[in-house]
Amino acid sequence: MSELGVNVDHVATLRQARGGVEPDPVIAALACEEAGCDSIVAHLREDRRHINDEDVKKLKQAVKTRFNLEMSINPDIVRIARNIRPHQATLVPERRRELTTEGGLSVTGNKAKIKRAVELLKDKGIDVSLFIDPDRREILAAKAVGVSIIEIHTGAYSLAKGREARGREYEKIRKAVDCGLSLGMLVNAGHGLDYLNVNRIANIKGVNELNIGHSIISRAVFSGLHKAVKDMKALIK
Ligand code: PXP
Repeated sequence: MSELGVNVDHVATLRQARGGVEPDPVIAALACEEAGCDSIVAHLREDRRHINDEDVKKLKQAVKTRFNLEMSINPDIVRIARNIRPHQATLVPERRRELTTEGGLSVTGNKAKIKRAVELLKDKGIDVSLFIDPDRREILAAKAVGVSIIEIHTGAYSLAKGREARGREYEKIRKAVDCGLSLGMLVNAGHGLDYLNVNRIANIKGVNELNIGHSIISRAVFSGLHKAVKDMKALIK
């Protein structure tokens, strides 16, 4: 059974709407853990639009499962990650104006820079994962820069309209998971997964962990965070 990592960025987004202290993403993280999630994910963006440096410090101290820090390879962010030492760092591409992460990392196009960031993080004992599209060339490049964990971008699958288009995107993910596993990598997946589309991805054999944020926090508005996490865990099961 795949594990569930809950992304708490959107709790911080709500806090930032008023610039105060509520709701606190750290308290949310603890509630998610109590409800049975397997890791906590947060993205320290360069523009600090939701999660901030203080949150990251507190999350590292408070999280009892595993803290997975999503981050770009910007040298300032790498320096912060090396100081905080999350259990895992997931490297993602970042563009200032995007609403959310729009695509996987181009590892093939940025091998040297990514390899350097991977080395700097691993040097501090941080496990490193690369967020990549379901593309064999990117998976091979990820292996080549020295990571043994990848997260397959499920965004295109989540956005695909109609059975055929969604089936095509699903096939890409299934093949990518097989490819990663055949190279001895740990394969995670995430982005855009919700209560309706998660089943198919959770059923792919060998997917280690699903990282989900927006749909869980959205549902929590109506059902409470505990139930929202428990319901997602049950679906994955
Ligand atoms: N995985 C990665 C690498 C992401 O960047 C995000 C979005 O922050 C997620 C998973 C979660 O995506 P969503 O909020 O759409 O569930």
